[in-house]
Amino acid sequence: MIELKNVSKLYSVKNRPGVSAVHDVSLNVANGEFVIITGRSGSGKTTLLNLIAGLARPTAGQVLLDDVEVWKLPDDQQALMRNHKIGFIFQFPSLIPSLNVLENVLLPTILGDKQDKDSAHDRAVKLLEEVGLADKLDSLPRQLSAGQQQRVVIARALINQPELLLADEPTSNLDEQTEAEVMTLLKEMFSKKGITVLLVTHTDELIHYGTRAIRMASGAIVNPPVQVQVTT
Ligand SMILES: Nc1ncnc2c1ncn2[C@@H]1O[C@H](COP(=O)(O)OP(=O)(O)O)[C@@H](O)[C@H]1O
Ligand SMILES: [Mg+2]
Repeated sequence: MIELKNVSKLYSVKNRPGVSAVHDVSLNVANGEFVIITGRSGSGKTTLLNLIAGLARPTAGQVLLDDVEVWKLPDDQQALMRNHKIGFIFQFPSLIPSLNVLENVLLPTILGDKQDKDSAHDRAVKLLEEVGLADKLDSLPRQLSAGQQQRVVIARALINQPELLLADEPTSNLDEQTEAEVMTLLKEMFSKKGITVLLVTHTDELIHYGTRAIRMASGAIVNPPVQVQVTT
């Protein structure tokens, strides 16, 4: 599904040597994997996700999604690919405060055709049931708890029925219990929808939710974190 071949991203900053945010990363993610990438703040996790999503152009190397090199496609096809193949959960809060829950979830469907829009409404209602918010369709984001808001974000990321879900620190602003609930929900959606998930986080504590863990440091992939066995 995802193939990165020696991908680097250098951010050039005026008159200064650029920041090498991602350095020579090669990675394969197969259909049906739930890959968790851990790494400290600044290790390049967000940049890596943006490279895969086609939101950042690599300075070297190739990014392939289902054997198609995203940056070789014309702009309109790139946009279509992003919109239909990939669901994205951003690191920072991204719900529109003035739109209600249902409207927020429907937002990624506004580029679709008429038929698409008709079915989108039903899909949104069903998804909001699945994430446990059936009674909150008319609520505004500020009327929801942080965990509930994140459930809306998950529903929105899935509205276009993507094959791939990219999640950037989806639980970083949640307390421990809410974090566990949101991770459990993501795992449930992963199993139920048969999607591929790539999730990045700064904490190793979440790796047991995935089917594979990868660690990043200074823009590169390093040895995977070892899951600590708790003995009683
Ligand atoms: N748009 C940008 N311009 C310049 N430097 C950037 C930009 N985005 C990220 N960086 C730098 O690239 C490195 C990796 O950042 P990022 O991918 O956001 O890491 P993480 O998500 O792991 O915290 C950091 O040193 C960061 O400061
Ligand atoms: Mg980040």
